[in-house]
Amino acid sequence: MKKRVFSGVQPTGNVHVGNYIGAFQNWVRMQDTYETIYCVVDLHAMTVPYEPADFMRQRLDMAKMIVASGVDPHRSLLYFQSDVPQHAELAWILSTITGIGQLERMTQYKEKSDRAGQNLGLLSYPVLMAADIVIHKVHAVPVGDDQTQHLELTRDLVERFNSRFGDEFPLPERITPEIGARVMSLQDPTSKMSKSDPSPASRILLTDSDDDIRKKIKSAVTDSDRYVRYDWDEKPGVSNLLELFSVFSGRPISDLVGEYEDAGYGAFKAAAAEAVVSGVAPIRDRFESIGDDEILAIMDQGAATARERAEAEMTSVRRKVGLSA
Ligand code: AMP
Ligand code: TRP
Repeated sequence: MKKRVFSGVQPTGNVHVGNYIGAFQNWVRMQDTYETIYCVVDLHAMTVPYEPADFMRQRLDMAKMIVASGVDPHRSLLYFQSDVPQHAELAWILSTITGIGQLERMTQYKEKSDRAGQNLGLLSYPVLMAADIVIHKVHAVPVGDDQTQHLELTRDLVERFNSRFGDEFPLPERITPEIGARVMSLQDPTSKMSKSDPSPASRILLTDSDDDIRKKIKSAVTDSDRYVRYDWDEKPGVSNLLELFSVFSGRPISDLVGEYEDAGYGAFKAAAAEAVVSGVAPIRDRFESIGDDEILAIMDQGAATARERAEAEMTSVRRKVGLSA
């Protein structure tokens, strides 16, 4: 039997090459070896201030971006979290065995509540995330480092639930993506490429035109030297471009260093830009070719399957906790 994985992404704008390399590209690869379930976690995105009028667009666009990146709805289960109300129902049940102290200690809660203000949803965010994962009896969860604490909570809740109510959920493992855990900002290569960076030049969006991509790479911050080397301490800007070049060309970094070491930054950046263009252009073109009705149909179909499975799981959970006979 194939192992089952689940991952989720919030529907927010500004989807960039860091999201592709750190998340979607791995989601696509995992389709070969795992049973894959992917979710646009719209309920999670409502825990920080957002614009209701833009939300539908962002939800659809994130779903399109996942499909455009290569997630195949025939091989992966793909749906909107809010279309499967069992997630929220299970989150309620799990909340009754969650300690508030553990939630208050979450780094992401502290950061986001400093910026966005406190609300109960933001505090209980990790409980809903745990429900997302366990409702599918998932074995593994591919997420970045920033989700370690949330996954630890999920594991605690699984142990607590199983010992209080009887064995129900497997203990999920975190799997770290094979490559590209951290793509850095083009304007400040010591900080992560981020969708909320005020400078648009800091990130390459998956919707950028070929010329936007060329301009952004040309103006990427490097250093005053002229040699292309892979050295994160001395040359973070160049090293970041080398990684992007390598990911999108499929060539090892050592090869690229061999070819461009003495070529000067101008020639190196121009070649790196062409590699990124050749990787991003097909994703952008596919994204633009998917209609709203088409993606809605895909998501509705995914939700129907997910609801059926989630309901079967909840039937068992309701019995265990004494809500049904
Ligand atoms: P976020 O943009 O923080 O909502 O993250 C969405 C997904 O993209 C998560 O799986 C992140 O781990 C991944 N991600 C975000 N930024 C980067 C980055 N700069 N490098 C690699 N992965 C990233
Ligand atoms: N918290 C995750 C993030 O911000 C998104 C998420 C929600 C998730 N539910 C999940 C990831 C379940 C993995 C599994 O990136």
